[in-house]
Amino acid sequence: VSVDLAEVQAQINRGLVDPRIFFDPEIYRLEQERIFRRCWLFVAHETMLPRTGDYITQYMGEDPVIVVRDKQERVRVFLNRCRHRGVRLCPFDRGNAKAFTCSYHGWSYGTDGALVGVPEVGTYAGGLDQSKWGLIEVPQVSSYGGFIFANWDAGAIPLDQYLGDMRYYFDNAFGRLYAGGVEMSPVKQRVLSNHNWKIAADNGSDLYHFGITHGGGIGTLQDYGEHMPQEGFADTAYLATCSGAGPSHSALAGKSLADAQRYDLHLAERLGASSVAYVKRRYEQMKKLDARVAPGYFSVVGLFPSILFVDMAPVTAGVAIELWHPKGPRRTETWLYVFVEKEAPEALKKFSALQMMRFHSFSGSVVPDDHENWERLDSAAGAPSSIAHQLNYTQGLAGDGRPPGFVARHYEELPGKIDYAISDAGPRAMYRYWARLMQER
Ligand code: FES
Ligand code: FE
Repeated sequence: VSVDLAEVQAQINRGLVDPRIFFDPEIYRLEQERIFRRCWLFVAHETMLPRTGDYITQYMGEDPVIVVRDKQERVRVFLNRCRHRGVRLCPFDRGNAKAFTCSYHGWSYGTDGALVGVPEVGTYAGGLDQSKWGLIEVPQVSSYGGFIFANWDAGAIPLDQYLGDMRYYFDNAFGRLYAGGVEMSPVKQRVLSNHNWKIAADNGSDLYHFGITHGGGIGTLQDYGEHMPQEGFADTAYLATCSGAGPSHSALAGKSLADAQRYDLHLAERLGASSVAYVKRRYEQMKKLDARVAPGYFSVVGLFPSILFVDMAPVTAGVAIELWHPKGPRRTETWLYVFVEKEAPEALKKFSALQMMRFHSFSGSVVPDDHENWERLDSAAGAPSSIAHQLNYTQGLAGDGRPPGFVARHYEELPGKIDYAISDAGPRAMYRYWARLMQER
């Protein structure tokens, strides 16, 4: 590789990033092998595949896959590619199938991946051992809180261990997991944009841009602005990154609602008595959660390498998920999902999904602003003078970067490594881990 990865790793400790990692084709090709074939990647949520034969199609890196619930009720993940000549087997986003039949010569495969049908099989004169030509299966599939992840690396650490300290933030920040589980929509939006996938991933722990890039965006969650803490959320905000040498996930959190319950009840009242009762019940449940994380705390959890969960805090707003699929060194397809609480009344589910879409989606107020900046960032990538200079990731590197008002003591005992929220500690951890994986054969 033309970029010296050991040097990249050394520089990140000084807060510098080589811009070539965002466009170099060799780096990109190596990432497909060393990042996307080794890390646990989100593929589906249990609620997307409730019945036998339910499937969705997805990507793991650039590889298309089928995620399907087989006859034994087990979720399996297969490369979405016919073994005969390699045609994409399933061309649909989702559905229910007893078998997948290729559109070219008609080979068909069961939901367990077995090759079950070959037209004119006699022409092979008994020379085709069908048991050797089943679909290529992703060896590891595992779920956490209903979120299903898959991993091409049969020797990878278990998902639980991979999530590490972030499990705590899932359990508490997404206290929604306790609320009888969540229900996830099929993909709501897909947008192809011109930037490297890491630009999106490193923005996941960047609170620095929020007030500038998203100036007025926050107000678009109905009446949200007026319920924000007087002093803003900045002095309660913190960034948690995983401790240790494992994956560099991150969680950004801060108090975003002065009185979350009042805000939620105020909105639930418009939706009727059952929504009000539900919100009250949820606030009773939330008393069991860690008060440093919920309720009233927004939380943005980024899991390495390519998924982000955005929870603005209200029970009356769903949680958005951004999933970034690499499509080339300078192209990324963002898939946007929303999940809501499974046991909420129908009216509240609908309203919550809409609330989140108004805020965090391509038709909302936040996401287009980010993407515009990421494309601007990419626009001069590769030009000779542009690549000659390192990028700055030094925020919070000297000292702890904490402003005097930061009440760090409330958070320091939380799992992971805690920094002030406006810090490059998140991206630094990410590029350090990225560079390590990229060097491991
Ligand atoms: Fe699928 Fe021939 S390519 S049957
Ligand atoms: Fe943003």
